[in-house]
This record gives sequence, C-alpha cells and structure tokens, in this order.
Amino acid sequence: MSDPRPRKSAAKPRHVAIIMDGNGRWARQHGLPRLKGHEQGAESVRTAIRACRNAGVEFLTLYAFSVENWKRSREEVGGLMRLLRHFLRDQERELHENQVRLRTIGRLEDLSPALRADLARVETATRAYTGGQLLLALSYGGRTEIAAAARAIAHEVRDGRLEPGQVDEACMAAHLYAPDVPDPDLMIRTSGELRVSNFLLWQLSYAELYFTDVLWPDFREEHFRAALEEYARRQRRYGEAS
Ligand code: IPE
Ligand code: IPE
Ligand code: MG
Repeated sequence: MSDPRPRKSAAKPRHVAIIMDGNGRWARQHGLPRLKGHEQGAESVRTAIRACRNAGVEFLTLYAFSVENWKRSREEVGGLMRLLRHFLRDQERELHENQVRLRTIGRLEDLSPALRADLARVETATRAYTGGQLLLALSYGGRTEIAAAARAIAHEVRDGRLEPGQVDEACMAAHLYAPDVPDPDLMIRTSGELRVSNFLLWQLSYAELYFTDVLWPDFREEHFRAALEEYARRQRRYGEAS
C-alpha cells in the first residue's frame, strides 16, 4: 500500500496526475473539427511525458478517457480510440528507450479487443522497466473504481478470506486498480475547469491541486514547469497545525 503521507516539504512531486482538458475548445477556437483538437492534444501528451522525464517525476497518470466520455458521439469516440492506438504504436519505442513502464487503469473491458490487445502487449513488454511509470486512465471513473474495490472485498468476505473488521483504508487501497502506485502528489487540470470530474477520487485525497487556463493542446514544458514551481511553494500539512 502506498504511504498517504509521502513527505511534508516535498519540493518535487513523485506522482503527477493530469486531467487533459480543452481539446474541443482549442479546435473551435481554430475553426477545426473536434478531432483535430484531440490530435493536437496527443502532441501535448508526448510533451508531458518528456517534461516528466526531464523533471525526474517517477509516476505520470493521464486521464485519457472517462466512463462518462462514452456519452460523446460515435464519431468522436471512434476517433479518440483510433488516436489512442496510433499514439501507442508511436510511443512504444520511446517507452523502451527510456525504460518506462506502461500501465492502464479503468474499465478496460469496455475497450475494443484490438485496442486491449495492443495495450496488453505494451504493458507486458514494459513490465520490468524501472525508469518511471506512465499510467493511462481509460474508460476510467473514480466511483467505478471504488465500487469495484468494494465488490472485490465483499467477495473475499463472503468466501471467508477476509473479516469485515479487516476492511480499513489500507484494505480498500489494496483493491484499487494500481495498488502499488503512490497517491498523486500533484493534480493538474487544464482549460480552466475547476472540478475533478470523477478522476482518482480516492487517491487525490491529499493531492495538491493546480488549475491552469491553458487548453491541453497548448500545454508545453514551460507550463509543466510552472506547475512544479507552484507545487514547490505549497506547504503540505495533512491536518497538522501550520
Ligand atoms: C479533453 O478535451 C479530452 C477528452 C475528454 C477525451 P475535451 O474534448 O473535453 O475538450 P473540451 O472540454 O470540449 O474543450
Ligand atoms: C475529463 O474531462 C475527462 C478527461 C480529460 C478524459 P471532461 O471534459 O470529460 O470533463 P467534464 O465533462 O467537463 O467534467
Ligand atoms: Mg472537456
């Protein structure tokens, strides 16, 4: 289980989570179809991965597609899934070169068998790498994740493998999608929206939140560095007196 209190005066986050928002508005501003915004957003994903590496951030979790995003048009969902497969093929070499482990969190069973196969292949091929971890949140919902953990625990109790009294925070955390990954220290959301949109509800408990008006397709390394600088100025108290 991850330590919920990694350190107090953490100058550098160990785990950064990003809600990559604003692709649609970027496209509209440029008079382009939404999918062009997502394509440009994929470029920013590459930038963010590189920025993390340069800054020595160990874990990067990217909110790529939420359980709620299935409500979008067939065309947009199809385009996003195609982009994802393309991104994966394109990034594979870089993951190997930098010894980065790829992982996924979310309802993977909702994805097409072809995309799932691609993801599983890269996840397996990079499993032993220790040069950092890239987590893609796909068909991800924070409440879905917590409900799945509760369901798994209920099964264990029913089967007599667990006592109800053993169900505590550590037990819940151990049943989440990526239980060995430390909680995010910093959560960044682009595009000016001030909400969490069902992202990592359990894990963000004590994360520092950073919001920027920059639209995701415009997000560059300098914006990432600005977020890290702001983070370094924060005082993490975890309930203790200031
Ligand atoms: C984020 O950009 C990408 C996904 C949610 C997949 P949006 O598509 O939500 O962009 P806006 O919020 O409409 O501008
Ligand atoms: C959150 O963005 C999901 C992702 C970035 C994948 P949304 O654009 O879907 O969030 P809402 O609908 O504005 O809350
Ligand atoms: Mg949005």
